[in-house]
Amino acid sequence: KKKHLYTVVVLGASGDLAKKKTFPALFGLFKNQYLDQNTHIVGYARTKMDRPKFEEHVTKHIKLKTQDDHDALTRFLRQCSYLDGQYDTDDGFQALEKSLVDIEKSSRATARLFYMALPPSVFIPVATNLKKHNYKKDALIRLIVEKPFGMDLESSRKLAKDLGALFTEEEIYRIDHYLGKEMVKNLMILRFANVIFGSVWNRHCIDNVQITFKEKIGTEGRGGYFDEFGILRDVMQNHMLQILTLMTMEPPISLGAEDVRDEKVKVLRFIPPIAKEDVLLGQYTKSEDGKEPGYLDDKTVPKGSKTPTYAAATLYIHNERWSGVPFILKCGKALDQQKTEIRIQFKDVSGNLLSKLSRNEIVIRVQPQEAVYVKIMNKEPGLGMKTVISDLDLSYSSRFDNSVIPEAYESLILDSLNGDHSNFVRDDELDAAWKIFTPILKTIDNGEIVPVPYAFGSRGPKGVTEFMAKHGYMRGEQD
Ligand code: BG6
Repeated sequence: KKKHLYTVVVLGASGDLAKKKTFPALFGLFKNQYLDQNTHIVGYARTKMDRPKFEEHVTKHIKLKTQDDHDALTRFLRQCSYLDGQYDTDDGFQALEKSLVDIEKSSRATARLFYMALPPSVFIPVATNLKKHNYKKDALIRLIVEKPFGMDLESSRKLAKDLGALFTEEEIYRIDHYLGKEMVKNLMILRFANVIFGSVWNRHCIDNVQITFKEKIGTEGRGGYFDEFGILRDVMQNHMLQILTLMTMEPPISLGAEDVRDEKVKVLRFIPPIAKEDVLLGQYTKSEDGKEPGYLDDKTVPKGSKTPTYAAATLYIHNERWSGVPFILKCGKALDQQKTEIRIQFKDVSGNLLSKLSRNEIVIRVQPQEAVYVKIMNKEPGLGMKTVISDLDLSYSSRFDNSVIPEAYESLILDSLNGDHSNFVRDDELDAAWKIFTPILKTIDNGEIVPVPYAFGSRGPKGVTEFMAKHGYMRGEQD
């Protein structure tokens, strides 16, 4: 396969996402030689920035530990440039084209990666201008797009149609950064490379599954964006559903992108839309000590908003493997801790040989402190025959001491440069995901489910424990 030299264009370069994720990830790849050292990176956005301001913006979230890191940054910055321009007029993109042609004359780059770190309102204007002014027939073109991909099935389809008129599915890479996370990438290996897991991965052995996403931070300044979307669109329909999909799909024929994504779409199509009675919503208020603000105290949030910042929803998969197993998805902002994990709870042991048994569980912790652990019953050491629940624990920090866990964005940008679509969302997959969520989102938007208040820093709204118990989760002795 011919190796292409890219020019990377970051659209929306002055924004938050570019500063926090895109530039640090590009630097990480550059520093570790995954990015050709001749790669040029061109930032483009509306904001006027002089060179020092741009460099400050690029480097703000880059962590430097060693002298080598500092040297690499100096070299990296030499490869970066910035252009300001509008998103909906020709001249900015003409200037961008001129700059790209100049760069390519000296670097001999043959490929262009357009990274759209943009608000959804300008997706199509920017894509249209890129196609019109910066698309070269003889060059390899790749376009990375960030969520939100629409608000519901209808708007997502419209976006897909408009984008599809400009770029081919082959050229488009829809990012869901959870797909770049180490533990999420590990799911297929855990399931398909272990007989002891693979053989119990079904409704005969599993009672219920919980997928939890918790954050300590509130919406802090992002209230304007967040209020339009709410927690279900922000993380549940995408990040959490991706985890669910990889956890439940049938084994693909190969690890090739289309084979994997075929299976993902298939399992999603077995999930009916979420029912109203299977949803619990919450919205955070001030912390108990009054120090942390409530959601409605955020100046960027409209007064009296009913947007949920917490949601629990139970999904079912109507196929042979999973029929009857509840998948409880819980996510929220401004909670007591930051954690993303999958908790698979097995059925009770049959018979009455032993009493007071806790259920087996497999817990896959995505972050922080990646780990897989299995809860098993064990004899308590000593003269009696008492049982005790214990962990078989694979904590990454103690097992893989020297390994560096790559940033999700580094992993995904590298995949896109290599033309590997397996960890990106395909158009039909997105469609299937929206089908599951659109009816319930309409119900919520119509105000038919009222969010229950919970204090900033608490464990979530009242009723969550009952909600989980109703869907089969049994608390162990240690909970
Ligand atoms: C983003 C959401 O997609 O994911 C944010 O818009 C959320 O609201 C973030 O905070 C979580 O990502 P991570 O990688 O920090 O868990």
